[in-house]
Parts: sequence; C-alpha cells; structure tokens
Amino acid sequence: MNKVVLAYSGGLDTSVAVAWLREQYGAEVVTLTVDLGGGSIREGVERRAMAAGASKAYVVDARETFVSQYVWRALQANAVYQGAYPLATALARPLLAQLLVEVAQKEGADAVAHGCTGKGNDQVRFDVAVHALDPGLEVIAPMRVGMGLTREQSIDYANARGIELPITKASPYSIDVNLWGRSCETGVLEDPWVTPPDDAYAWTVAPSDAPAPVELVIGFEGGIPVSIDGERLGSVALVQRLHDLGGAHGVGRIDHVEDRLVGIKSREIYEAPAAVILHTAHKALEGLVLSKEQLRFNRLVADELAQIIYDGLWFSALSRDLRTYAMSSQRVVSGDVRMRLDHGRAVVVGRRSPLSLYDKNLATYDEGDAFDHASAVGFIEIFGLPLRVEAARHGAVGKHHGAAWTWTEPLLADLPTTVAEGAGAGAG
Ligand code: ARG
Repeated sequence: MNKVVLAYSGGLDTSVAVAWLREQYGAEVVTLTVDLGGGSIREGVERRAMAAGASKAYVVDARETFVSQYVWRALQANAVYQGAYPLATALARPLLAQLLVEVAQKEGADAVAHGCTGKGNDQVRFDVAVHALDPGLEVIAPMRVGMGLTREQSIDYANARGIELPITKASPYSIDVNLWGRSCETGVLEDPWVTPPDDAYAWTVAPSDAPAPVELVIGFEGGIPVSIDGERLGSVALVQRLHDLGGAHGVGRIDHVEDRLVGIKSREIYEAPAAVILHTAHKALEGLVLSKEQLRFNRLVADELAQIIYDGLWFSALSRDLRTYAMSSQRVVSGDVRMRLDHGRAVVVGRRSPLSLYDKNLATYDEGDAFDHASAVGFIEIFGLPLRVEAARHGAVGKHHGAAWTWTEPLLADLPTTVAEGAGAGAG
C-alpha cells in the first residue's frame, strides 16, 4: 500500500485514523474534506489533517453541486425514505465517494478510506459507490477492521502521537450534517420510547417556542425551487434561507424508527427544515399540474428511488433511469406555492400555476358550471358495468347461493334502527 485517500471530517475518529492508517499500512495519507453546507466543515480542518500526519489535505466546496445535482433530483422525485427521512446523509455519500475516487486517481493512490463503522448504512454506500466508479481501488474502513477504539482510547492514542483533539465538546450522539439535513442517533435516543431531549436538536426551536406564523411564496420552475417571495435565489442560498426560517419556526423535526439496510431498526432524530418545506410545497404544486395517472405512477417512482438512494445505489442504471424519468415528469411543474410556517408545521395555504390543470369552471358548485351533469349518467353506466356484472354472477347483498364467494352479509337487521312513519305510509 502506497497511498490512501481518507474522507476526513476533522473529528477525533478520522484524526486518529490518519495516524492509524500510516502505522498499520505504512502508507502516505491524503485527506479529503468536503463542504456540504449545514456546518459540515470545521474551522482549520487542513491544519488539523496535517498535524495528524497527512501528507496533503484537500478541501472541496461542493455545496452547489450537492444541492443542484443530488438534492434537487431527490426533490423532483419526492424521494423520502419510509415516508419520513429526506435522505440528507444518503444523498451526500455518492458525491463524497466520487470525489474520493477522483482524488485517489489524481494522486495515484491505491485505496480510499472512510470513518464509518461496520453497523451502519454509510459504509455500504461508500464501498458500493467507490467500487462502481473504480473497481481497482481498495476501500479501507479503519473502524471496521480493528481501529474500533473507545473514546478514551482514541484520546490516549491521539495524545501519545501529539494529534490535536477537536475543541468541540464530545456530543452524546452520533451526528451527521449537511445543508439538506441533520441526523442524530445513539445515546438516550436508542430507547424509542424516550422523548428526544432538547440537546438532540440543534437547528430548530421547540415548536411551542416559535414566533407568530409567517407566510412565504416559493416559486418553482421545472420542479426546482428558484425563488422566495419573488426574489430569485441560487440553489444554496435558497436552501439556506429556508433552513434558517424553518428552523426559527420549529419546522423540520422528524422522529423516526428506520430500517437500515444492514437489517437493523434504528431510532433517528432528523432536523430538515428546508427539506420539509420544499417537499411539502413541491407535492402541492404537482397536485395542481400533473395528471392523476402521473401522480400515481410518480409515487411508485418516489418510493423506489428513495430506497435506491438509501441503499447507496445512486450509480446504478435503475437509479439513473428513474432520475431521468422524474426530471422529465417535471416539465410542467412550474408555479408558486404559498406556505405558512406555524409552530413546527409547514402548511400549504395556496398554489397557482400558468400550467395548472385545475379548471374553476369544471370544479365550481356555483354559477358558471361548465360540467355536463347529464353526461355523468352515461359515464357511470359504463364505469359501473363490470361491478354490476360481477354482482349479478357472484352474488350481491343478502343473496346466498351457498357459494363461498358471496361475502356480503346483510347489515340492516343487526343495526339499531328507528323508522318514523308519516301520513303517506302504506299508501298506494
Ligand atoms: N440513518 C441515516 C442514514 O442512514 C443517517 C446516518 C447518519 N450517519 C452518521 N454517521 N451519523 O442515512
């Protein structure tokens, strides 16, 4: 082993990993730190990497790419894992893996390394993505192959080698952040019955402490948000704005028991103010401009793509094809959604689009109704035809042919019923 490129956060574990990799493999260690927003990058990270023994420290600002190439793809597809998790960490992994591979190729390294444990999803995502992009690279996860030190052992290990320790206080949780979301797990959260303590949250105020509700208008073009209250914003700035505003209104707290891909159920606390606001708004706009068949089919794609992203299969052919489908389905998803941020909730209060399929003249119960009520009769005749045939052949209410498939039992005789009789009763 000559050279290893290590995904480096600047925390204790990856700082120790720099020294561990050098000692264990006798290899030169190059670090890669990627800024994905949300406070994912720590002050002085290159200096710490060098102090820990790295020969070179790359720092890449990938915020724009992350939002426009990964986050927007997931948003356009409504990809949310198990209906709860907006996939922040999962979306970032393929991007990090690609950058690791590119740095490794540029540096002529034989391996890449990451600080994931052997129990989570992230190791799978890194390994699978790296090997999809460059099967010749070895992937080393020090935590999985013997480095596994307790916090105290890591501190001793670092002190013995003069490695600088992060100044940040040790968190009782395992945390991952990027602009799209923050995840928090382990510690007291491992009991799914325990109410998340206040210190599990860092981005959002408690909904009960939120200020008076505010309304904002989010403008979309082709399924991508482009403006807030008429002001056009770049991708990163737009997400950042909603992150700040949503957080201040307690929006985006998610408490979820999640099925990891290694077969474990795990309790996760997420904060994703921008993701919650944007997914809610995006779905509302789709409801206005897409057909019911598109909406139904898109839900299948959303679930499938969420699973693929969660499982680290971003670079698979199916992933690419579903993303391409989702993008294409967004041609007409342009317009505005008015949202109210109200004590932890992001509520849709209005939507409009020049491409809207909503027709007031068809929907109205007031004057101006253009819907042909008489033609409803013929429609229902045809629409209900198969059901009438089925009922006639297989039995309807109260008919017992002794056949096993007659399943509808009479109800009226068993329900408390009163009957009022008027003058006309029994007449005729
Ligand atoms: N459960 C989430 C996922 O699998 C979050 C993982 C966060 N990673 C971490 N090292 N804390 O995507």
